[in-house]
Amino acid sequence: QPLEQLPIPLLLWYREHARVLPWRQDPTPYRVWVSEIMLQQTRVAAVLDYYRRFLQAAPTVQDLAALPEDALMKLWQGLGYYSRARNLQKAARQIVDDWGGVFPNTYEGIRSLAGVGDYTAGAIASIAFGIPVPAVDGNVLRVVTRLTADPSDILAAATKKRITAALQQVIPTAQPGQFNQAMMELGATVCLPNGAPLCEKCPAADFCQAFQQGRTGEFPVKAPK
Ligand code: ADE
Repeated sequence: QPLEQLPIPLLLWYREHARVLPWRQDPTPYRVWVSEIMLQQTRVAAVLDYYRRFLQAAPTVQDLAALPEDALMKLWQGLGYYSRARNLQKAARQIVDDWGGVFPNTYEGIRSLAGVGDYTAGAIASIAFGIPVPAVDGNVLRVVTRLTADPSDILAAATKKRITAALQQVIPTAQPGQFNQAMMELGATVCLPNGAPLCEKCPAADFCQAFQQGRTGEFPVKAPK
């Protein structure tokens, strides 16, 4: 029930509070893809300058496919998780060789690219193509388990699957990218981890089960590995 109430207040809140970010200004598939790969395991503030330099050096997927290895590594120097950079170029070559240089425009096509998992495919499909699919990462799992006071282990694959299916039922077909980015934004700026959520600022507080029950500190549940 809380999930069904979520989209309208969340989208209104996002319209007011969305951070202005370079990949949101001009959300082409290439720009959104590069941003989502950089944002894996890395905060927005740390990504911004790398993103700007990367797009300057490789403004198109063809440029990225042709970039010399040393230039690629230099652009990534300091961001960490260098396999992300290698997969990015591998995927750029996939797009050039297997897709005629045109970014795939279906969820499955996007998911087939090197380095693109379920979350990233959902983010690109929804933000760049308007395809109504959820993008479920740790932030979104935290938001949803608090909203529904769901005690499931968020590290379990079955939990992610169930929450993805539940979000698929409520994602607004008219603006799926806005909805997914609003969920990320809520998790990043309001529904914070470590038992420190800013519930007074949350557009979902009225129907958030964890907040209503005074139990925000209990969620998300992470079973010991
Ligand atoms: N984290 C992951 N994807 C993001 C996005 N599109 N905007 C802001 N933070 C993000």
